[in-house]
Amino acid sequence: MSAVRSELVPSRRAPVLRVMTVPLLDAVLAIEVQAYTFPWTRGNFIDSLAAGYLARVLLAEDGELIGYFVAMQGFEEMHLLNLTVAERHQGQGHARRLLTELYALCASCSASAVWLEVRESNDRARALYAREGFAEAGRRRDYYPAPQGRREDALLMTRGVPREGGA
Ligand SMILES: CC(C)(COP(=O)(O)OP(=O)(O)OC[C@H]1O[C@@H](n2cnc3c(N)ncnc32)[C@H](O)[C@@H]1OP(=O)(O)O)[C@@H](O)C(=O)NCCC(=O)NCCS
Repeated sequence: MSAVRSELVPSRRAPVLRVMTVPLLDAVLAIEVQAYTFPWTRGNFIDSLAAGYLARVLLAEDGELIGYFVAMQGFEEMHLLNLTVAERHQGQGHARRLLTELYALCASCSASAVWLEVRESNDRARALYAREGFAEAGRRRDYYPAPQGRREDALLMTRGVPREGGA
């Protein structure tokens, strides 16, 4: 019975993770400018790749870009600089998948904690990070630009990452 059923259901492969490269930046920027009022520029991405930051993209089976992250490795810690999922793919667990990949990268390079900043007003991202076990560790006053020349605070958040082979 189950064998028959599986023949009838069209197979849809799970999205795949790839290293972010310069040829992908047109697609990355198309998502970036939609997602943020103050998006990263192409130069920000190019500089990040040139600096050797860890950057991954999540691609659908047909090659469509679903989302991406950029993270900077520090001494025994990782700093998440950018995590974005295309609007039409949000709410389907893709950010969690990207974060899971980041934790795996942390474990393989002996980073025992992830740090990030998030806008205080970004409820969706804060809900994601809270569900993922991040805790608030501080506040950076006026960290982000905001509309009409104002500034907005960042919340500094952190989460431990088990070492490879650990519990
Ligand atoms: C924040 C963001 C990355 C979440 O991506 P996503 O793929 O939609 O997230 P997921 O589907 O993996 O959801 C994981 C969790 O995020 C939160 N979340 C996702 N969509 C949400 C929504 N519409 N409202 C509130 N919380 C939401 C929930 O806590 C969710 O957990 P749950 O599924 O157990 O309820 C995405 O909304 C995004 O790219 N936003 C614009 C860019 C941005 O703000 N990036 C973060 C900068 S710090």
